[in-house]
Amino acid sequence: MKPNNPFVTRGYRGPEYFCDRVAETGKIVSALTNERNVTLMAPRRYGKTGLVHNVFNSLPSDYATVYIDIYATSNLQDFTQMFANAVLGALDSVADKALAAVGKFFKAIRPTVTPDGNGGVTFSFSVDKSSTEATLNGIFDYLASKNRRVVVAIDEFQQILEYPEKGTEALLRSRIQFLQNVGFIFAGSRHHIMGEMFTSPRRPFYQSTDIMSLDVISYDSYCKFAEGFFKEAGRDFSADAFAVLYRRFDGVTWYVQSVLNRVWGDGGALSSEEVVSAAVGGLVEERALTFHDLLASQTDVGKTLLKAIAAEGKVAEITSGAFLSRHGIAAPSSARTALPNLIETDLVYRSAAGYMIYDYLFAEYLRSLPQA
Ligand SMILES: Nc1ncnc2c1ncn2[C@@H]1O[C@H](COP(=O)(O)OP(=O)(O)OP(=O)(O)O)[C@@H](O)[C@H]1O
Ligand SMILES: [Mg+2]
Repeated sequence: MKPNNPFVTRGYRGPEYFCDRVAETGKIVSALTNERNVTLMAPRRYGKTGLVHNVFNSLPSDYATVYIDIYATSNLQDFTQMFANAVLGALDSVADKALAAVGKFFKAIRPTVTPDGNGGVTFSFSVDKSSTEATLNGIFDYLASKNRRVVVAIDEFQQILEYPEKGTEALLRSRIQFLQNVGFIFAGSRHHIMGEMFTSPRRPFYQSTDIMSLDVISYDSYCKFAEGFFKEAGRDFSADAFAVLYRRFDGVTWYVQSVLNRVWGDGGALSSEEVVSAAVGGLVEERALTFHDLLASQTDVGKTLLKAIAAEGKVAEITSGAFLSRHGIAAPSSARTALPNLIETDLVYRSAAGYMIYDYLFAEYLRSLPQA
């Protein structure tokens, strides 16, 4: 179905509503069709998940695709359950055939049958803790038994490091490397952790994939993409206003899309800088309560640091005397102690250009507060 708003902010609605990423899509498709697995890394909201779906859409039609986002899983049992449901849903459409196959490979899996409201039923599967590993092996055996090509994308892959079970990485690697008919995309936003998993000789996934760091969509592509929709609908489009929008968020996809979505939804044209500011203001306003609580939960030094970083945009050296004295932070040691926690909780991000507030809207909020 055609989206009401061409600037999609949830899910994937087809290539028509997907900007550029032509080279990236081509590279990943080429790796997969040449039987190489891919690691896809980028900071939050750059468009990793969208790209995975665009790749799925661009694969030859004989490929089956399986997507899981393991962000919310906290152990191997959760992972296995999610994986089982995604694999079985994607590869077997006829329910009773699926159940027969399931019985063969997953002795310990418990199907739950739910009416789907249209006279049919849907199946979901739960996995027992005691038989998690056996079931996981069953899923891999099942995938290997299929006489067809499959691509599995595991999004937020770094989450497996949080599982209490030791050796999850090694367990997955040992099965994945022998699957001839199944390719994998491992996507994740924790650059440091993902990089380490795939490039350290001490780690199971060492050099097992093509590694790709996703950058933001180029200004030219994005501007043309946006302009196309406005012009087609007979609405004004100012390239200057778009440039302001793109620069304000360093071109990061989710923010640019969200603002375009708002401007479009308000029936408007992208006619001036003021239109952009109004839409950004609206987005910040909706989150103000959450941002307020988030800030309130920080230590005093943490609060000061967040505001100071937001005020400057990007800070090369947090503990430099000049930066600290500009913002009335007396002790470099207190800044040095507070910073790791802000990074660990994803409030601050260390980009190539320096430390910055990870969420651009939170940065806007912080800048809108009265300066102490
Ligand atoms: N090439 C694109 N063209 C248009 N919209 C896009 C494109 N890529 C992503 N989007 C949209 O931008 C938003 C953010 O993208 P996406 O969810 O893919 O980012 P992400 O890197 O996976 O973020 P996160 O790290 O938060 O999971 C989504 O709403 C998506 O629909
Ligand atoms: Mg994502």
